[in-house]
Amino acid sequence: MKLPTRRAFLATGATGLGGVAAGAAASALLLDDGSPATPAADRVTSLGTASVAAPFPHQAGISVPAQQQGHGTVAAFDLVPGASPAQLKALMQAWTAAIADLTAGRAPAGDPDTTALGSGPCSLTITVGFGPSLFGKAGLDAARRPPQLAPLPVFGTEKLDPARGDGDLGVVLAADDALVVFHALRTLTRAAAGTAKPRWVMSGFSRAPGSSPDPDATGRNLMGQLDGTNNPAPAQPDFASKVYVAPDDATAWMRGGSYLVFRRIRMLLTSWDAQTTAEQERVIGRRKDTGAPLSGGTEHTPVNLAGQNPDGSLAIRGDAHIRLAAAAGNGGAAMLRRGLSYDDGLTADGEPDAGLLFLAWQADPGHGFIPVQQRLTRNMDALNRFTTHETSALFAMVPAAPPGGYLGQGLLGA
Ligand code: HEM
Repeated sequence: MKLPTRRAFLATGATGLGGVAAGAAASALLLDDGSPATPAADRVTSLGTASVAAPFPHQAGISVPAQQQGHGTVAAFDLVPGASPAQLKALMQAWTAAIADLTAGRAPAGDPDTTALGSGPCSLTITVGFGPSLFGKAGLDAARRPPQLAPLPVFGTEKLDPARGDGDLGVVLAADDALVVFHALRTLTRAAAGTAKPRWVMSGFSRAPGSSPDPDATGRNLMGQLDGTNNPAPAQPDFASKVYVAPDDATAWMRGGSYLVFRRIRMLLTSWDAQTTAEQERVIGRRKDTGAPLSGGTEHTPVNLAGQNPDGSLAIRGDAHIRLAAAAGNGGAAMLRRGLSYDDGLTADGEPDAGLLFLAWQADPGHGFIPVQQRLTRNMDALNRFTTHETSALFAMVPAAPPGGYLGQGLLGA
């Protein structure tokens, strides 16, 4: 079969891209008929040079803009048996120095790894924290574990794989280039040799920067929904108190840090696809295309949980995800959700092994993830039928390193 040439294809005006702006996107998909490649001026050349500064006293990688980086990896490490306090301190010093280099696009001194050679910083962020199991190891008194870092309770609907959850140290890496993320994690892993070894690693992705005409548009998850609409926004006056540990918190070493709940949530996409769009929208309580609440308006119109359909039924059903997750029904519990999609091929039974690497950042999981997840479980969130929580972890993501100091110094330096 003879396929259309680039010029012939453009002349017909057909894009086949269902709403994607024609021009550059369409021509990039066409077969080569000998016409020149995309002119240099039209190519994205600035992405690699961007870098993200840590918003002191917080680490970078938590309150990044809605247009987050296109790739991410979450990893956990365990201390090797018998690791000493001095080793743990030296590891955090080494990671702090490596992170300063990597996020500036420099190779750490003596780094033999050429994986990211020639790449810029690509907006790399690396965020580090401590898991509950660290306390009691490397000379750390178990009594120093903050109450917010108590292991998460068991939730009824989860099917967790302990080997791929928890961990002594947690690291979240994100950048606009997957090689840069990979290289950064390899560098941290080499620096940890002899003190800590990787326990699990999971990678995901978001919309690539530049792929949407509106860089501030809410991204979509693999169920096709706009995900993140009703997140706390940095411009809101109570954003910091919801997401970051307060400056007067009883645990001094966590002031300015944030607690991260991580869940690998598999989406049961075959069952999901078998639903009508109207049913999918009732499950969440929002339209799929615009993200508008079913109580009316546009994406950012406040949700009216009392709103009714013409027949008197609730516009947002009793078991709708946004009704059960809303702060109003959870004693004001709030969190900043910044998930990554993942696609790991097929499960043993041939189903898509794909879903959401769910990351929720909060000042206190006891007023964030825990009560919300308990309510979603207890009240049979309609979304539960289409998701399985497969792994879980909780980390105290420490504040930024003090000037000239290192990550975790408030805990390890005392
Ligand atoms: C694969 C699993 C999940 C999917 C696909 C999903 C999807 C969504 C979508 C589409 C929305 C509406 C848009 C928005 O405001 O972001 C939403 C809202 C929300 N979700 Fe989820 N979600 C999932 C899991 C969770 C979990 C585990 C929690 C917490 C325990 C959670 C907490 C929330 C909260 C707090 C809101 C905002 C509710 C509001 O105030 O309007 N979600 N989610």
